[in-house]
Amino acid sequence: MFPVFRPESPQAQAIFDLFWLVMLISAGIFTVVAVLIIVALWRGRSRVELPTQEFGSARSEMYWMVGPAIVVVWIAAISANLILTVNAVPAIHSPHDASAEPEITVIGHQWWWEVRHHASGIVSANEIYIPVGKRIRVRLQSADVIHSFWVPQLARKMDAIPGRDNFIWLEANNPGGYQGLCSEFCGTQHAWMNFKVYALPPGEYAAWESARLAAPADPAGADATAGQRLFGSLSCVNCHAINGTGAVATIGPDLSHIASRKELAGGALENSPENLARWLADPQAIKPGCKMPNFRLTEPHVRQLVAYLETLE
Ligand code: CUA
Repeated sequence: MFPVFRPESPQAQAIFDLFWLVMLISAGIFTVVAVLIIVALWRGRSRVELPTQEFGSARSEMYWMVGPAIVVVWIAAISANLILTVNAVPAIHSPHDASAEPEITVIGHQWWWEVRHHASGIVSANEIYIPVGKRIRVRLQSADVIHSFWVPQLARKMDAIPGRDNFIWLEANNPGGYQGLCSEFCGTQHAWMNFKVYALPPGEYAAWESARLAAPADPAGADATAGQRLFGSLSCVNCHAINGTGAVATIGPDLSHIASRKELAGGALENSPENLARWLADPQAIKPGCKMPNFRLTEPHVRQLVAYLETLE
C-alpha cells in the first residue's frame, strides 16, 4: 500500500481523512449525476420527439449554482484550515521569541539534504532523527534550486525555496524509519534525493544525541591512519566537514559519523564499505552529474579512505 495511505502522525492522518472526505463527496455527486443520466436515457429510450424545453427557470438555476458553490466553498474552507494547521509558521509578532525558532533546519542541495539540529549543533545529511510523539518545527531552505520536502507518512509536502524560509511540523506516532523524498524536479539526480526520518523513543533519542556529539576516536590501524592523512591532503576537506577535526567545509554533506548512516548519496547506495569504495572510485558512474567529481583515486587510496571513514561511527 502506498505510504500516503499509512499515515503515522496526526497531521498525515488529518490529510488522509480530508482526502477520503473529498473522495466521498465527489463519489456521491458522481453517483447522483450518473443515476440521473441513466434514468433519463432509460425513460427516453423509445421517444422520437424532443421533450418540452424549459427556458429561464430562475428556481432551477439557483439550485444548480448555489448547491455546487456551497460544496466547493466548504471543501476550500476545510482544506485551508488543514493547511494552516500543518504549516509551522512562527508567530509574526514575536520574531525574537525563542519558542518560535525551529528545532531543525533542513537545506535542500542538488542532490542531498543537509540537516541542522539547532539545540545540539548536530549536523547530518539525508537522515533526520526526531524523538517519537513530539512536534518538531522544521525550517526548509534551499542552497540552489527549488526542491520539495516530503515524508508521505508524516507530513504535507513543502517546497524548499532559495532565499525563503518555509516551515512545517514533523511528528511521528510510533518509532520507526519513514521514507522521505524530493518531490519537485530539481535536475538530473532528482530521483536520488531521498532521505529518512527516524523516530526514536525519548531514551534512545538522548543516547543517539550523545553518540553524535562525541568527538571521533583516533583511527587505529595503518590503513585508517593513512586514510585520515589523505582526507586532509586530498580535495575532501574542500567540501566536507568532520566533527572534531580540521575539516569544516559545508559544500558537500557533513561526514561526521558517516559509518553509522544507513544510506549513501541520497539513497542511491546502501552504506557498506564496498559501496563506499565504489562511490569514492567513481561517483559519476553511480550518480551522473552529482557535485562529487571522480578524483581518479588509486585503489590503495580508496581502501585507506574507506578504512578511515568506517571509523567514524
Ligand atoms: Cu531536489 Cu528534486
